[in-house]
Amino acid sequence: MHNHIQVKENNLYIEGCRATELAEKYGTPLYVLSENSIREKCQMVKNDFLNKYPNTHAAYASKALLTSSLVKLIEQEGFYMDVVSGGELYTAIHAKFPSERIIFHGNNKSLEELEMAVKNQVGRIVVDNLYELEALSTICRALNRKTHVLFRITPGVSSSTHDYIATGKKDSKFGISLDESIIFSAVETVLNDPFITFLGFHFHVGSQIFDNASHVSATEIALELVKKAHEQFGYDFKELNVGGGFGIKYTDSCEPQKIGYFVDAIMATIAAFCKDNEMAMPSVFIEPGRFIVGEAGTTLYTVGSIKKIPDIRTYVAIDGGMTDNIRPALYQAKYQATMAKRPFADTTQTVTLCGKCCETGDILIENLPLPEINSGEIIAVFSTGAYNYAMASHYNKHLIPAMVLVNGDQSNVIIRRETFEDLVQYDEIPGYLK
Ligand code: LLP
Repeated sequence: MHNHIQVKENNLYIEGCRATELAEKYGTPLYVLSENSIREKCQMVKNDFLNKYPNTHAAYASKALLTSSLVKLIEQEGFYMDVVSGGELYTAIHAKFPSERIIFHGNNKSLEELEMAVKNQVGRIVVDNLYELEALSTICRALNRKTHVLFRITPGVSSSTHDYIATGKKDSKFGISLDESIIFSAVETVLNDPFITFLGFHFHVGSQIFDNASHVSATEIALELVKKAHEQFGYDFKELNVGGGFGIKYTDSCEPQKIGYFVDAIMATIAAFCKDNEMAMPSVFIEPGRFIVGEAGTTLYTVGSIKKIPDIRTYVAIDGGMTDNIRPALYQAKYQATMAKRPFADTTQTVTLCGKCCETGDILIENLPLPEINSGEIIAVFSTGAYNYAMASHYNKHLIPAMVLVNGDQSNVIIRRETFEDLVQYDEIPGYLK
């Protein structure tokens, strides 16, 4: 399915590591991340975007997956990093990511988060609303620190993806609305603020997108705004950040586009606009998250109970579920899986792969074709690198899986396995209950 997944002697390998050996060594459920897959995706971004067009930058959207090791990897690749909370910002800074390469997003940043960003001199704050602009200005003044900002706009475009992950629509909680009375008064305010350098605009149209139409429409809308801001305020356009959303392969029926398909169309739109309006080309940023890490992840599970309901279905239960991968329950996301041993064995049945949570909807894959299978065997679910660990929970007090990073035949733990003690570490009992 992916380059880093191979089958040798009837066994599944992730890079040079045999899946069953990883499961035995580190236990299950286990997130396995392929370092070379991540580096290959970064290289694709370099070939198709950064090295092809001058004055372009890529920020990894860390909400897809953030661990201290990943911060190191992204830093080595020379990318910027998009963070969206104090916690993500802390993780990046703690692992010594250069703060000038951090872009801070969020639709309701707290005063503490804004102060943390200003104090740490993050390179860019993407202001989402006027409340935030005012708060940021006050903080910069109080700390006597200058900061660079972009405005996130709501371009009012719809994308062909699940409603929950479409963010460009006018009716969205994200971004500044393009009603002229709102956006131009914000531009005027920011241009007159001596503590804030206004760099330009940002939008993000949605996630897991296969069609470039919404990116191109949103780019056109942002450029129209730039033109009007230039006419009204003499504003010179320095940066445009077109967000992420580039879709990946979850199952064999997904046919994702190359990153060039999106960025070529976006860059052509910007270049034509700048030529027509005699403006200098801005810096252009993209923010891929899922594209960088999604396909790199594989989750290994051990099969437990197998329940055959005659004439209805067979439930194959694994030792994880919606607590380590909420996406099927939340977005009806589809995944593909095979046995770690004999992955090519003839399939003899179609099963429902379910988790161990007390929820009927805790189903990872419906209609999964499998060979005969026994309890104790290992199943691998593919493309689980993005928004799996990042969205994991302790529901039912299940433990969140450990994560290993594989590179060739080397494997290293990058998130240690949790213990039951970890689960009660924040609990406190008031004296009168003891
Ligand atoms: N930039 C901004 C401002 C974003 O809000 C996002 C994602 C990205 C970049 C990266 O998008 P990507 O390239 O990863 O598609 N939990 C959902 C996805 C939510 C995405 C939120 N924002 C899922 O599992 O599908």
